[in-house]
Amino acid sequence: MAYKTVRQIFEHNKEWIAERLKSDPDYFKKLSQRQVPKYLFFGCSDSRISTEAIMASEPGDVFTHRNIANVISGFDLNILSVINYAVNHLRVKRIVVCGHYGCGGVKTAMSSTDEGLLNPWLRNIRDVYRLHMAELNNIGQTEARYDRLVELNVIEQCINLVKTRDVQKALLEKRITIHGWVFDMRTGQLIDLKFNTKKAMKEIMAIYTVF
Ligand code: CO
Repeated sequence: MAYKTVRQIFEHNKEWIAERLKSDPDYFKKLSQRQVPKYLFFGCSDSRISTEAIMASEPGDVFTHRNIANVISGFDLNILSVINYAVNHLRVKRIVVCGHYGCGGVKTAMSSTDEGLLNPWLRNIRDVYRLHMAELNNIGQTEARYDRLVELNVIEQCINLVKTRDVQKALLEKRITIHGWVFDMRTGQLIDLKFNTKKAMKEIMAIYTVF
């Protein structure tokens, strides 16, 4: 986690190119020709989240979008465009929403403070808290409550995916699966929340169906 100068970054780039070409002289030729990722990954912008480390992935494997607290907002043209392109054009097979314990965005959303410009974004997570207030307020220990909100936020963001037109269509065509995961930075462990896509569809499509 050492600080690198800009010069070091560019030096590293040269070494990386040499290393890749050594193992495969056509590496960049192949890389530049096309991308066929099977995964669409939504994660937090937190610097400690490494998509490559979590997904054990190489360039070309994972189409990625990251924002504060991995929120899937139906009003965010950026995220809706990512979903549209990944699902309809790249034809990804799996969508992952990956939260993480110790998430600053989730922690801030747990307190009733004025965060200025961040307020509308944090409201997405505050809505998750309100939806699950009974369960969360029953958890006495603050740390455990915080962990649970991280998990519930992932589940609600998976549900938000099901609400979108493109994902709904792909689900009905049975060509996509949604996964809700949490990365535990305290141990490095990846936890599968076992998001039940079928159950979520059944429960919410009576209200949110667009087809
Ligand atoms: Co975070």
